Amino acid sequence: MSKQFTVWHHEQIGSTNDEARRLAQEGAPHGTVVHADEQTAGRGRLSHTWFSPAGNLYLSILLRTGEPISRAAELSFLAALAVADTVEALLPRQIRAMLKWPNDALVNGAKIAGILLEQVDDATIIGIGLNVLEAPSNVAYKTTTIVANGGIASVDGARDILLDRLGNYLSVWREEGFEPIREQWLNRSYPIGAAIRANAGGQSTAGHFAGLDVDGALLLDTPQGRQRIVAGEVV
Ligand code: BTN
Repeated sequence: MSKQFTVWHHEQIGSTNDEARRLAQEGAPHGTVVHADEQTAGRGRLSHTWFSPAGNLYLSILLRTGEPISRAAELSFLAALAVADTVEALLPRQIRAMLKWPNDALVNGAKIAGILLEQVDDATIIGIGLNVLEAPSNVAYKTTTIVANGGIASVDGARDILLDRLGNYLSVWREEGFEPIREQWLNRSYPIGAAIRANAGGQSTAGHFAGLDVDGALLLDTPQGRQRIVAGEVV
């Protein structure tokens, strides 16, 4: 596993993001990782709960990059690439992971992992949930797992690959900036021009995918012109 990370493992916890937040407030250093076998109060984006039984990966990574907070959103794209690499490393060779803005990982159109980015002062917490063995059935979107796709059922293996890949993407980001990350993310997302619908600010807008802006905002071409969407989700 990458040396830049120190993992604190819990058999059970409320939410690894909450524990990482507590550690951040206590001054825990860059690279502190909270890993739990199960969560009793796992949280997803937009205040959703995150299905968190034993058998999946639940991880929160505390980063103090020293970069301005305005660049923190870029980190979720690094995390999404690391998740996609991890999923592909665990799955049979021909199966690809696809990324959906802002940071879902899908396999054959079904969500296999989610990322929750939170800021605590100058620390960014990247919470990652990856369905290895279990997927919720009571949600409004399709879900899947590593095992359901014929992959390797190793939560610790997933964690180690994920941290290793994230470490590599962090090095690229530090040395070359966001652009190579943005390009790699685009290579694993919908093709430019794909018909998509984005929900943002209580509004749902249909349009054509026009890429990612230099800061990670979604670019959507609509009949009214190009829109820049900073927060929301593609549905
Ligand atoms: C999403 O809604 O897609 C984001 C889900 C993020 C879930 C992970 S599981 C580990 C970490 N702890 C949490 O409570 N949430 C994140």
